[in-house]
Amino acid sequence: MKQIVDSRTRPLRDLRISVTDRCNFRCNYCMPKEIFGADYPFLNRKEILSFEEITRLARIFSSFGVEKIRLTGGEPLLRKDLPQLVEQLALISGIKYITLTTNGVYLSKYAQKLKSAGICRVNVSLDSLDDEVFKGINNMGVGVDSVLKGIFAAQNAGLEVKVNMVVKKGMNDDQIMPMVRFFKEKGIMLRFIEFMDVGTTNGWNFKDVITKKELHDMISEEFAIEPVNPHFFGEVAKRYRYVGTDTEVGFISSVSETFCTSCTRARLSTDGKLFTCLFADQGHDLRELLRNGADDEDIQSFIQNVWERRDDRYSEIRTEESQKNRKLEMSYIGG
Ligand code: GTP
Ligand code: 5AD
Ligand code: SF4
Ligand code: SF4
Repeated sequence: MKQIVDSRTRPLRDLRISVTDRCNFRCNYCMPKEIFGADYPFLNRKEILSFEEITRLARIFSSFGVEKIRLTGGEPLLRKDLPQLVEQLALISGIKYITLTTNGVYLSKYAQKLKSAGICRVNVSLDSLDDEVFKGINNMGVGVDSVLKGIFAAQNAGLEVKVNMVVKKGMNDDQIMPMVRFFKEKGIMLRFIEFMDVGTTNGWNFKDVITKKELHDMISEEFAIEPVNPHFFGEVAKRYRYVGTDTEVGFISSVSETFCTSCTRARLSTDGKLFTCLFADQGHDLRELLRNGADDEDIQSFIQNVWERRDDRYSEIRTEESQKNRKLEMSYIGG
């Protein structure tokens, strides 16, 4: 195993893999319906990495000490036979945790299979407990129930579950406390995500962000919460515990309290480009190497080279100017 660090001494630890750029939702803050319509140029089958290609790359990443893989999208459960990919990844000796981020709709169908294949944790996105609000966000007429069913199916299958709620002013602020009460009562960790300026299509404006501090104050009016130490270096969420319980609540404050200084994440897009930041506008083509007969050592030195030159810290240096730069969509790059 060969540990590598970037130009800001951050090690390469996690790999987020986007397995599809498609989704069965059209959340306004991620894939607005007007842009991601019937004629949107999603990637075709030849362009996307095969399971074998993904697994080969994951093995190479593990040689740098990457132990955690998160499968994302788009909606990863739309990728045909996803549990087979999980089985292949689980065979890589260095990979200790395989996790999944999903909108939950297909979880009741796949939870058991995913668990058997080797997924250990799932993060399920849910932004509201109110059907009308939720339908207004996903734009596909999907009700809250199908996601809740998925969450409970995952729990019953023995998967650790966290719930992600993106908060945006005017979109779902009235859902903050109902979500807190519901998931506290269920003993499930809820994490609030500040609305981020990912991509160029979601009309981001700082005025729409509800900050970690505002959320913390709001929750504290009803429940006493105390900070919990991070579980590992570079953990994205700031964790708190409801006093007197084991249940946690977390905040992902990429806008108001950035976490670039400990960012150890590499991202692999659906078509095999390596990105060193969620806000990058350019990737490094690993698919071309794979398909042109490069051997493992070639690919390894390519990745090492990219990582050692990495200097990204977008959230720390976000300015009005940099926000206007061309940025790639989250569904493609992998949230
Ligand atoms: P665990 O902590 O392992 O449960 O996962 P996670 O929080 O890293 O993953 P998840 O897919 O649940 O992501 C939650 C939110 O954090 C999403 O909105 C991500 O886009 C955001 N996020 C994850 N990694 C980064 C990052 O490196 N930079 C920024 N700005 N946001 C990130
Ligand atoms: N800002 C913050 N979070 C976002 N997500 C998608 N788009 C955005 C955005 N613009 C969230 C999803 C999911 C996670 C992977 O990222 O809701 O929970
Ligand atoms: Fe799909 Fe998740 Fe994006 Fe919503 S946030 S459109 S569920 S990928
Ligand atoms: Fe990492 Fe880029 Fe997110 Fe900063 S903005 S935490 S460098 S992915």
